[in-house]
Amino acid sequence: MARYDLVIKNGVVVTPVEQYAADVGVNGETIAAVGHGLRGDQEIDASGLLVMPGGVDSHCHVEQLRADGTTDEESFISASTSAFAGGTTTAITFSTQFKGYPIGPALSGYQQRAARSMMDYSFHQIITDPTDTVINQEIPALIAAGIRSLKVFLTYDPLHVDDRGLLRILAAARRHGALVTLHCENYAAIGWMTEALLAAGLTAPKYHAWSRPVALEREATVRAIALAELVDQPIQIFHVSCAEVAEEIARAQARGVKIWAETCPQYLVLTAADMDRPDFEGAKFMCSPAPRDADAATGLWEQIRRGTIDVISSDHSGYRFEGSRGKRSAGSNAPFRDIPNGVPGLGARLMLLFSEGVTAGRISASDFVRLTAFNPARLFGLTNKGRLAPGADADIVLWDVHKQVTLTNGMMQHAIDYTPYEGRVVTGAPVLTMRRGAVVMRDALLQAEPGSGRFIARGPYDLIKPTGRLANGFNPSAYA
Ligand code: URP
Ligand code: ZN
Ligand code: ZN
Repeated sequence: MARYDLVIKNGVVVTPVEQYAADVGVNGETIAAVGHGLRGDQEIDASGLLVMPGGVDSHCHVEQLRADGTTDEESFISASTSAFAGGTTTAITFSTQFKGYPIGPALSGYQQRAARSMMDYSFHQIITDPTDTVINQEIPALIAAGIRSLKVFLTYDPLHVDDRGLLRILAAARRHGALVTLHCENYAAIGWMTEALLAAGLTAPKYHAWSRPVALEREATVRAIALAELVDQPIQIFHVSCAEVAEEIARAQARGVKIWAETCPQYLVLTAADMDRPDFEGAKFMCSPAPRDADAATGLWEQIRRGTIDVISSDHSGYRFEGSRGKRSAGSNAPFRDIPNGVPGLGARLMLLFSEGVTAGRISASDFVRLTAFNPARLFGLTNKGRLAPGADADIVLWDVHKQVTLTNGMMQHAIDYTPYEGRVVTGAPVLTMRRGAVVMRDALLQAEPGSGRFIARGPYDLIKPTGRLANGFNPSAYA
């Protein structure tokens, strides 16, 4: 009988469709077998535990360049530590282009910083300035280098792209074979609302949500869908905050548009009321789109169950609360416009989702695996990630479904000085995380070296091919 380098014995293996008692055999960095009675040179007893693929977090901001030339305090080392502590082994982070600047040198900087990663990683390239050079030279070059997803912001200074710019990016992605991901909120309307709110003296963190209500997310989502349909280019809508927006995506999916949707734990467990906490604490919950209300979260769970939402990522953002670059950097009375957006969640994502989803009976363990590992890997072309099957990378998390944990910032093991989930009790937590056959976290203790993570170059894959359905049969991407 074959003997493996390592066997995880006696656990319950969870796939995107079922769960069953089995052993997992690992040779080197790769899963070699899933079966019964496997024997290994080394054996780990997983009795009473779920054996799941390591989490794939397809939306993380790590050591990202800011407009002032500094980078997030969350480094690839601290982010990796947090990821492993939470059961995640792979992340897709972002490289940003700033308007007026080329992509190449900025991307090289990201690659240098990411070389210290311990988790495996890839990049989405943010496009803010679709000049002829960017469209005709830089986008093809970065796709050829394995960065097969682009992100477009329809809001935010200084990142937002107008409709014409978006069309150019969609067409370039179609020509060269990339997925376009989108932040959908209406730029002009948010700017106008913000000015009106500030003029009325409504400056506290909670007015962040008032400045960008659901209608502005819905409008931008519908517009992005329409433009993607015009070009026949597959897209993923990031951080869908509520059912009202998800319903627009479901309508597009029903008419055959290649569109996928992501939401994040903050839209399932936080609400706009959190931004109204006293003493500027509300700033800790500010992200965009803004968390909505309990009904929106209930509606989102329903859309998750219906399959409209494909991915649950963290949208982990590396802003601290204190310090010269933190949320309080403009003072405790800073108007909401001057408070950095985004919340950390890389370490908490899986525990929050397991507890609120699986333990609470809203979704199955297979749904959990599909939403947090299998689908993000499949949709972004991470072919060896997100599944426990022979040939896949041995990225594995052993999960204790009964373990009750009170989340604290210390447990997150990130470089950020708070978690918006402080004090929240969750049931279900990782006890061991393995990346490509190596145990990298056991009982919350890190066992990995900086630089041991690997960049994953993503090749072409069928899922993101256009449908071929074009208005009048004319393909504008061939000419634009
Ligand atoms: O508020 C958020 N989401 N910040 C991170 C950047 C983004 O929009 O994804
Ligand atoms: Zn975004
Ligand atoms: Zn983001």
